[in-house]
Amino acid sequence: MTQSEAPAAEILVVDNDPAHAEVVQEALQRSGYRVTTAHSGRQAVELLKQRHFDVVITDLVMNDLDGMEVLKQAKELDPDIEVILLTGHGTIESAVQAMQQGAFNYLLKPLDVKQLRAVAAKAVENVQLRRTNVELARRLDERFGFEGIVGTSSKMRQVIELVKRIAPTDVRVLITGETGTGKELIAKAIHQNSPRKKKPFLALNCASFMENILDVELFGSVAGIYTDARDRPGKFEFANGGTLFLDEIGDMPLATQSKLLRVLETGEVLRVGANEPIKVDVRVLSATNQNLKELVAQGKFRQDLYHRIAVVEVHLPPLRQRQEDIPLLIDHFLKMFNRRHKKHVRRVSPAVRSRLMKYPWPGNVRELANVIERMVVVDADGVLDVDDLPPELAEQTPEPESAQPGDSLSALVGKPLEELERLFIAETLKYTGGNREEAARLLGIGERTLYRKIHKYQLH
Ligand SMILES: Nc1ncnc2c1ncn2[C@@H]1O[C@H](COP(=O)(O)OP(=O)(O)OP(=O)(O)O)[C@@H](O)[C@H]1O
Ligand SMILES: [Mg+2]
Repeated sequence: MTQSEAPAAEILVVDNDPAHAEVVQEALQRSGYRVTTAHSGRQAVELLKQRHFDVVITDLVMNDLDGMEVLKQAKELDPDIEVILLTGHGTIESAVQAMQQGAFNYLLKPLDVKQLRAVAAKAVENVQLRRTNVELARRLDERFGFEGIVGTSSKMRQVIELVKRIAPTDVRVLITGETGTGKELIAKAIHQNSPRKKKPFLALNCASFMENILDVELFGSVAGIYTDARDRPGKFEFANGGTLFLDEIGDMPLATQSKLLRVLETGEVLRVGANEPIKVDVRVLSATNQNLKELVAQGKFRQDLYHRIAVVEVHLPPLRQRQEDIPLLIDHFLKMFNRRHKKHVRRVSPAVRSRLMKYPWPGNVRELANVIERMVVVDADGVLDVDDLPPELAEQTPEPESAQPGDSLSALVGKPLEELERLFIAETLKYTGGNREEAARLLGIGERTLYRKIHKYQLH
């Protein structure tokens, strides 16, 4: 076991007998693990809800919740966790049964410390390996590719379709949309799905530099210009063969715009202060949250450059115009931040979902991500409820449904039960943005049953 390579594994030892728990704890601590003990099944489950563990070692026979139940709940909270059972000769059969339920192994009492350490080491290795693989797969599909772009609204489907078609070409794309709508995410997806994906993707924010510095950043400079003692390549040269993403291009000064236009027309850059141009092969993607056509009309943006950089325009609609995507994004960020912060938030209450659906999201997806992250980090009980909401969302007027459920119901008296079912299913589907899996979960029925009812009531 090489404890020094990975962060120390977290082990939870559960035993009704505190003295025995302590013996196990000491044996494992000497192997370099971080060990916590619980003296009842109930206490163990509480700890599992609050904190992250890699391996649970639990006595099988205990007087409140037994080892089987600890196993079940531990796996439910974290499917990657490994559970080892401690059992006497009399209960070997149950231990074997536990292994069929997903336990990693069992150890016979009285314990053999060497064996305990060996089995624990193997379990830890398993968990860490699995977590690394999951993490790698996640990074690959979350950062890049179209899977990282969440959204099934017709507006987002159109965007993704367009992006898929233009990504493999060399066409220059202007990505527009309000702040936080995912412009950079789209730019990366375009690069990642183009033949240039093995070459660099570089981003430059045109709003963060003074004019002179921006020129040097983009095109480079020769020794003696400004304070540089040496020649300096710019982003165009660094991105050679790949993609350069020019963010907030609407803020680019007119003089720099002329230089950029020349690069796009000739395929050559001239470092600031140099005489000899350098050939570059760079695909340029740009983004702005301003209206470039208006800037052109005002004389602040060159029309010829506009046509050069915006061969195709991809517009990202603000989140408030694609509310159907909100439930999906909530679940996406919940998973992401649970993992990132090692938390176990399982649910978002319907009241919170409904607030999140109705909020206008001036900061768009970025703001939604921040709100979910904040709630996940401070949550204590595994459920995001109204009192976990940040102030800007909590101050909305309360939902009528939570205020007076009786009122709206009595208005429906006189309708046949089937009609109520139809209305209710339709309403739930609307709420989940047409997501059937989520709707079935909320309704407490199987997906197939829901499917049948959708057919029956023609709710497509
Ligand atoms: N459809 C989406 N699916 C998943 N994550 C998204 C989506 N849209 C945006 N995000 C996430 O939201 C955050 C903001 O997105 P991004 O930085 O791409 O926005 P932007 O439009 O470039 O914003 P700004 O104009 O402020 O620079 C990022 O963390 C991004 O991964
Ligand atoms: Mg951006």
